[in-house]
Amino acid sequence: MVKHLSVPRLALLSLLAIGSVDCAPASNPGLRGSEDLLGYNPTNVLSQENTDDVGDYELLPGQKEDADIGEYLDFSNVENPQPIRGSKGGTDPGPRTPALDKLFSDRLAPPGTDKGDVGNAQWSLALSKVKQGKQNAGWSRQQNENVLPDAEAMAGVDMRLEPGGYRELHWHVASEWALMLNGSARVQAVQEDGKTFVDDVSKGDVWFFPAGVPHSIQALEGGCEFMLVFDDGSFSEDNTFLASEIIAHNPKSVLAQNLNVNVSAFDNIPDGELFIFPGTPAPKDIEKQNVTSSAGTLQGKESYTYHFSEQEAHEVAGGSVKIVDPLTFPIASKFSAALVTIKPGALREMHWHPHSPEWSFFISGTARATLFKPPNTATTFDYHAGDVGYFPQSESHYVQNVGDDDVILLEVLQADHFADISLGQWLALTPHQIVKDTLNISEEDINKFPTEKPVVVAAVGS
Ligand SMILES: *[C@@H]1O[C@H](CO)[C@@H](O)[C@H](O)[C@H]1NC(C)=O
Ligand SMILES: *[C@@H]1O[C@H](CO)[C@@H](O)[C@H](O)[C@H]1NC(C)=O
Ligand SMILES: *[C@@H]1O[C@H](CO)[C@@H](O)[C@H](O)[C@H]1NC(C)=O
Ligand SMILES: *[C@@H]1O[C@H](CO)[C@@H](O)[C@H](O)[C@H]1NC(C)=O
Repeated sequence: MVKHLSVPRLALLSLLAIGSVDCAPASNPGLRGSEDLLGYNPTNVLSQENTDDVGDYELLPGQKEDADIGEYLDFSNVENPQPIRGSKGGTDPGPRTPALDKLFSDRLAPPGTDKGDVGNAQWSLALSKVKQGKQNAGWSRQQNENVLPDAEAMAGVDMRLEPGGYRELHWHVASEWALMLNGSARVQAVQEDGKTFVDDVSKGDVWFFPAGVPHSIQALEGGCEFMLVFDDGSFSEDNTFLASEIIAHNPKSVLAQNLNVNVSAFDNIPDGELFIFPGTPAPKDIEKQNVTSSAGTLQGKESYTYHFSEQEAHEVAGGSVKIVDPLTFPIASKFSAALVTIKPGALREMHWHPHSPEWSFFISGTARATLFKPPNTATTFDYHAGDVGYFPQSESHYVQNVGDDDVILLEVLQADHFADISLGQWLALTPHQIVKDTLNISEEDINKFPTEKPVVVAAVGS
């Protein structure tokens, strides 16, 4: 091998070798032991601590069952939960973080059907650093590929604006879709033909700003919080094109010529980004902010908002569902979303999305989901309000409400219409002989499979 090294590399290697010998630690000799501690030595002391005593602990009834049954284990009120399922696992003497073990019981004691590693499909926004706006005007926190590497197609930003607070005029390379979570805001934009848009949105409404179109958001009287979804997993809220920055970073003489004003017009421009900052309250009469040119306004199918809050949910056995996709909100040509309510114990049925990964946001409640990846890996994740989930294209998943309150779940796809394949419907509509030959399930049981998509299956026994 050495023969193949060029002379300068050899010289460098020998220099490094000499260097490592010369650099033996000189100061603080008490920090290290001695060569006597290396390997077997009859004088070494063996301390045989008993680790059986992990303290008092309680096993839940489902924890002793066959691990493959995989019932949800609610560790929230269990003292000293242990990583045991049926005959699998064992006790944990530590180190550990009990509060997290209680929150993520399917991580501590996974169902026996989990196998291998599907990659992470969960991010709690509570782990995201809050980016604080100016003068208590609001904040944001984000999830992107940095924290959830498999989430390549979409990223999310949760944003709070206090009454009158602005998200500064800006644009970005990605397209932005949003759901208002609380409160109300005025949104406005100017597109490439000079058509303008202004509208007010309230809790449950959605908006969309195409890539590159500059826009702003200002909270109305009650303030607001919303969830933004971008069609790029690497999107970062730290990397948008801000009005303050484009003005700060071009020669004032050029700006003056360009905007037909005196150079002195730029004497008092802000010193760097505003991002989120307090503003003059938006006029109640929206018409006062309806600025137009001969190009007119964006209306009808070109509108950047959709008043989803006014759309009635479709009731199903285990909850309800409503969809907003380009069939009714055409400007958001790739964003297809479902807002699903899952009652306690109910199940958003096992399914997958044939055209797109799913980026999801848990708005309320407590849930779990198993992500199955080919050929044979599966991981069960526990989700709480404020968590992002991500299920890659065509990989099956369900969402089970394991808490006492409704789960409200937002599912967002990059697709021209919302679509999913239902495991139940697939197996019910496949010739029964084929299913029987494949899965060795009785004809009697196959007859019970749902031929219509349940969407959300009711709780067992309800
Ligand atoms: C904000 O919206 C969430 C989800 O709808 C709801 O649970 C929560 O109570 C709301 N908070 C306020 C202050 O309205
Ligand atoms: C620009 O503003 C300065 C300061 O107000 C003034 O002295 C100057 O005459 C103005 N120039 C033009 C071209 O208006
Ligand atoms: C803005 O003005 C146009 C007419 O120029 C009108 O069609 C549109 O509805 C107005 N929009 C708002 C938000 O008032
Ligand atoms: C199907 O299940 C039955 C009942 O357990 C068993 O006797 C039979 O061998 C199984 N058939 C196949 C093909 O595995």
